[in-house]
Amino acid sequence: MDSSEFLQFLVSRCSVREYDTREVPDADLTYILDCASTAPSAGNLEAWDVVIVDGQEEKERVAEASFGQEHVVSAALLLVVCANYVRSMSRYGDRGVLFAIQDATIACTYMMLAAHAKRLHTCWVGSFQDDEVRDMLDLPPHVRPIAILCVGKGFSPGSFTERMPVVEHVHHQLW
Ligand SMILES: Cc1cc2nc3c(=O)[nH]c(=O)nc-3n(C[C@H](O)[C@H](O)[C@H](O)COP(=O)(O)O)c2cc1C
Repeated sequence: MDSSEFLQFLVSRCSVREYDTREVPDADLTYILDCASTAPSAGNLEAWDVVIVDGQEEKERVAEASFGQEHVVSAALLLVVCANYVRSMSRYGDRGVLFAIQDATIACTYMMLAAHAKRLHTCWVGSFQDDEVRDMLDLPPHVRPIAILCVGKGFSPGSFTERMPVVEHVHHQLW
C-alpha cells in the first residue's frame, strides 16, 4: 500500500449505525485482535483488555447502559475496550492511569481500522455509563471501560462526515 492508498483507506472508513444479521467470521475477529496487539503502548505494557460481547441479551444490556443506542444491539458483536490501570500503574504510578487510557484508545483505533481492512463496519461508542457496564461485565475495580466498538456488516450512511480544516488543529512552536 502506498501513501495515497493509505489515505484513501482512512478516508473510506465511516461510522456505521445500521447493521444486518450477518455475523463476524471468527477469522476476522482473530485478525482484529491480532492487529490490536501490534499497537504501541507505554513501556510496552499493553495496559488494555477487551471483553467480546456477542450474546443478544448481553448486547441489549450494554445498549441500555449506552443510553439506548440501537446500533449497540444490532451490531454482530461489541468489543468493549478497557484500560487496565494496574498493569500500567505498577511501573508508572499515577501517570499509569493516563497511559492505560491511551493504550486502550490506541488499541481500539487499531481494532476499528483492522475491521475496516476486513470490510466490516464499525461504530465507536463512547457514551455509556461506566458503572453499569462495569457491573454487567464483571470488570474488576482497576479496569475501566474506555470505548465500545460495534462491529458488523451494515449499511453505510452514503455520505461522509466533514472535518475541520486541518490547519485549525495545527500550531507551530507555540500555541
Ligand atoms: C471518543 C468517541 C466517542 C464516540 N461516541 C459515540 C457514541 O456514543 N455514539 C455514536 O453513535 N457514535 C459515537 N462516536 C462516533 C463519532 O460520532 C464519529 O466518529 C464522528 O461523528 C465522525 O464520523 P465518522 O466516524 O463517520 O468519520 C464516537 C467517536 C469517538 C472517537
